[in-house]
Amino acid sequence: MLFDTHTHINDEAFDADFPDMLNRAEEAGVTQMVVVGVDRPTIERVFPIIDQHKYIYGAIGWNPEDAIDMTEDDFQLIQRNLTHPGIVALGEIGLDYHWDKSPKSVQHEVFRRQIRLAKKAGLPLIIHNREATEDTWRILKEEHAESIGGVMHCYSDDWDWAQKFIDLNFYISFGGPVTFKNAQLQRDTATMVPLDRLLIETDCPFLSPQPFRGKRNEPARVRLVAEKVAELKGLSLEEMAKITTENARRCFRIHENG
Ligand code: NI
Repeated sequence: MLFDTHTHINDEAFDADFPDMLNRAEEAGVTQMVVVGVDRPTIERVFPIIDQHKYIYGAIGWNPEDAIDMTEDDFQLIQRNLTHPGIVALGEIGLDYHWDKSPKSVQHEVFRRQIRLAKKAGLPLIIHNREATEDTWRILKEEHAESIGGVMHCYSDDWDWAQKFIDLNFYISFGGPVTFKNAQLQRDTATMVPLDRLLIETDCPFLSPQPFRGKRNEPARVRLVAEKVAELKGLSLEEMAKITTENARRCFRIHENG
């Protein structure tokens, strides 16, 4: 039983083979996943998926790269749908300094506003951080995000930073890059993260793990991430699957019958 905590199966990359893709996930033991919407079209595509599949959960939030495009209507779309059955997190939100389409000040404001919204709704966050670790941490701390916590998605920093995010009540999630040859930093961090704070994800259709690097990713391949992390921790795949699934359900506050 594997839990892929971060997918974009609402992406048009899956339009041609959606049912087959879900079957392959099931065959690989992926019994639960989160589908993430990051802008108006992808947020609107989350709902039919989670309405039709009991074990697919949803997360909605406005992505930092397009922060400058977020209208009041977009904010309200997110706000009014946070109580939709099956929505388990607000995200992915955060900071992305790799792209300069949205000025930092605008990214900060959109990020803070959505953290406050999640706190009001009592939902955990899914955090996207690219080349903005210090500001991401500072804003989470200033906004007291520890009261809701959440996921540091596709984590790629060192263990010192991971500890700081864990202290703010966040889980550390690893994806396909942990299998890449040049990703020793991620492997070192994964080795250090306490077992009860570890999550796995694909971020599909992006970041396919080896040996599929560069190809379209899909939830079935979270198994390859689980195998790598299990190897780093000296555990079996079954043990790692059980631990990361329990962690995901605790993080997203999913209870036995929900
Ligand atoms: Ni994502």
